[in-house]
Amino acid sequence: MSFDLVLFGGTGDLAWRKLMPALFQAFRHGTLPAEGRILGIARDNLSDDAFRQLIHQRFEQVDLAKRPSPEEFDRFAQLLQFQRLDLSKPGDYEQLKKRLGERSADVVVMYLATAPNLFTTVCEQLAAAGLNTPATRIVLEKPLGHDLQSNRSINETVRRGFDETQIFRIDHYLGKPAVQNLFALRFGNALFEPLWRRENIANIQISIGEDLGVEKRGSFYDSTGALRDMVQNHALQLLCAMAMEPPISADADAIRDEKLKVLRSLRPWTPEAINQFAVRGQYGPGTVGGEQVPGYRQEPGVSPESTTETFVALRAVIANWRWAGVPFYIRTGKRLAARDAHIVVNFRAAPHAIFRTPLGAANRLVISLQPRDGLQLHLLAQGQETRRGAQSLAPVHLDLDFDRRFGSERVGAYERLLLDVLDGRLNLFVRADEQEAAWRWVEPLLDAWQGNDADLRTYAAGSWGPSASSAMIARDGFYWSEEQ
Ligand code: BG6
Repeated sequence: MSFDLVLFGGTGDLAWRKLMPALFQAFRHGTLPAEGRILGIARDNLSDDAFRQLIHQRFEQVDLAKRPSPEEFDRFAQLLQFQRLDLSKPGDYEQLKKRLGERSADVVVMYLATAPNLFTTVCEQLAAAGLNTPATRIVLEKPLGHDLQSNRSINETVRRGFDETQIFRIDHYLGKPAVQNLFALRFGNALFEPLWRRENIANIQISIGEDLGVEKRGSFYDSTGALRDMVQNHALQLLCAMAMEPPISADADAIRDEKLKVLRSLRPWTPEAINQFAVRGQYGPGTVGGEQVPGYRQEPGVSPESTTETFVALRAVIANWRWAGVPFYIRTGKRLAARDAHIVVNFRAAPHAIFRTPLGAANRLVISLQPRDGLQLHLLAQGQETRRGAQSLAPVHLDLDFDRRFGSERVGAYERLLLDVLDGRLNLFVRADEQEAAWRWVEPLLDAWQGNDADLRTYAAGSWGPSASSAMIARDGFYWSEEQ
């Protein structure tokens, strides 16, 4: 199979931080089809060689283990080419068409790693230039729009030029090995399915903590915020993976139909619910990993009066039979104490106590997404007896470390998703109706938080977010699980 991968935003942040390293890993693993070309697209005036040089320099900043040796880079560089293009100029797309016509690849991927407000222009221009052939696949990075209306309008424009089966909407969390394992755990094993419901589960917690701040993306982030950046997509996709019914097959639409049902079952926000079960915060100065770091409002590109949230904690209610009465808590933030993403399933306590147990002890399944990829099942066991005859139980856990079991050189999220695009597999990509349902759910929060700081809490960088987040969950009689 031969391919052309046309990378719009070819000199941008995402291209060099995530996409090029992922493509190189696929190349190193021998999974990237050999007959291929990666065509970087940007407004800069670069020759193919200058583009290769640029990528070479940037690879110097990649983790040592993932860095190419000089020989490896020389071979990889043969795939790299560059085409100057002004996104708004029809003539430039004709040039691109000419370049692509030099060889006719089996698959042509148009990867839009640009600002989302350019998606419609690029898609319209590609279609106008006749670059929407059956061989074309279009990849759209998140965020797809700013709200429900802009999301719809992007999707409508893209679908005027491309069939839904050609559209790959990326949510890179779906490509993470831990998320693949979550599907395997739920739908490849019979053990948990009978337990996976309201009779046995007290609550589910989804936490995505980052220790990094907004880095060099201050101005983008300031008009985005954590709700759009992390909750509308990554956190809700994790919630779907936890809450969905078993799909009838592993086909893309079978999976996406079930995720859509979950999103449609989310109880809409009311002003009272927003008051009680939606917390937003913004980091102030603090210490992360022993280093003093500035507050969000002091970050480059961020307005000193910004009311943008860098932390969100929410309670989602899924109004269906399986999950009635089981709260799903979501928490995500920048500049928290550590980079740590995990999902905790808190099972109900034994209905009748004949043993003495530590306060609040119950079974818990922890699905760790990062930095480690693993599963821990927390149980109670008869440990050392502290007093003669005392029947007290101690917490213990079974621990499965997937990196240790399968090796840490596993296929990364972007590598996996890029290969899926080349293979035409849509299972791990998000359908337009899923995205719309997710935007519809977050929209009342966006409206309530727009341009005011009435309930915006400041938290110290390096903490676990504002105390209001613990108060929110305590209102239901729970606490955030200690796995952090
Ligand atoms: C991106 C967000 O989608 O996900 C970033 O735009 C965030 O703000 C990133 O840092 C987190 O991804 P990961 O894979 O590092 O958890």
